[in-house]
Amino acid sequence: MKKNKMALYMVIASLIFLFIAGVVYSQDDIQSLEHDIFMNRERPAAVFPHTLHADELQLDCLECHHIYKNGENIWDESELCDCTGCHSLEADGKKMSAMRAFHSNCKECHLEKNKGPYTCGGCHPKKK
Ligand code: HEC
Ligand code: HEC
Ligand code: HEC
Ligand code: HEC
Repeated sequence: MKKNKMALYMVIASLIFLFIAGVVYSQDDIQSLEHDIFMNRERPAAVFPHTLHADELQLDCLECHHIYKNGENIWDESELCDCTGCHSLEADGKKMSAMRAFHSNCKECHLEKNKGPYTCGGCHPKKK
């Protein structure tokens, strides 16, 4: 009887673990970026491991995500994450075009830290 109860607890514990792990991973499972606004793509979609950047490298979310209010970045997790929600195909006032927004954000940091790809093929690898 006791053994059965123990087994039951183990099953429940592992189900809870799987549930939590699932929630954590599903938020961050982006591996590449593909956007509808680029209708006639010139390059394969850029590789972008979100988990590596946000969790393993522990980069500040605000390095990439932003909502500016009076010159201050007030972004938090409840806000828009989609870059193309604000950056369109063409630049619009202070908002640079989507392609420039991505390129500045990604390349500047890789160059500054001298880590991560900064050649075209490094981010847009040919599909095998
Ligand atoms: C190195 C840049 C970078 C960092 C650091 C970063 N993100 Fe992101 N995040 C992105 C990009 C790029 C996307 C995809 C945006 C798009 O598709 O337009 C994204 C998407 C997301 C999404 C949407 C996920 C989905 O499945 O649709 C969430 C939520 C998110 N980020 C939260 C965070 C949080 C929280 C942090 C900090 C712990 C963080 N990000 C750090 C660049 C970054
Ligand atoms: C809510 C709208 C909004 C979203 C979402 C957004 N941006 Fe921006 N972004 C702006 C605006 C507005 C500016 C211009 C800020 C200024 O110059 O005052 C800007 C500026 C930038 C710049 C110039 C440097 C800087 O940080 O000011 C880069 C690079 C950039 N965005 C990349 C991104 C990336 C990458 C994402 C997605 C992870 C993103 N943006 C999401 C509105 C947005
Ligand atoms: C604030 C800094 C920062 C920004 C912004 C950033 N990265 Fe990175 N990225 C890094 C660093 C640091 C590494 C190196 C990780 C390592 O080698 O340990 C890296 C590595 C990578 C790698 C190689 C991953 C691997 O498995 O070796 C890819 C691909 C990449 N980044 C794509 C992107 C793209 C696409 C963007 C823009 C959406 C971006 N990064 C924005 C810091 C950044
Ligand atoms: C550090 C990563 C990185 C590097 C290096 C990089 N790109 Fe990109 N590029 C991106 C990201 C992120 C996007 C937006 C997501 C997407 O659509 O792939 C993008 C989008 C594009 C687009 C718009 C989509 C399309 O296919 O029409 C073009 C064109 C492009 N890049 C060309 C280039 C060229 C040419 C080079 C080399 C001179 C280059 N990129 C280097 C990350 C990078």
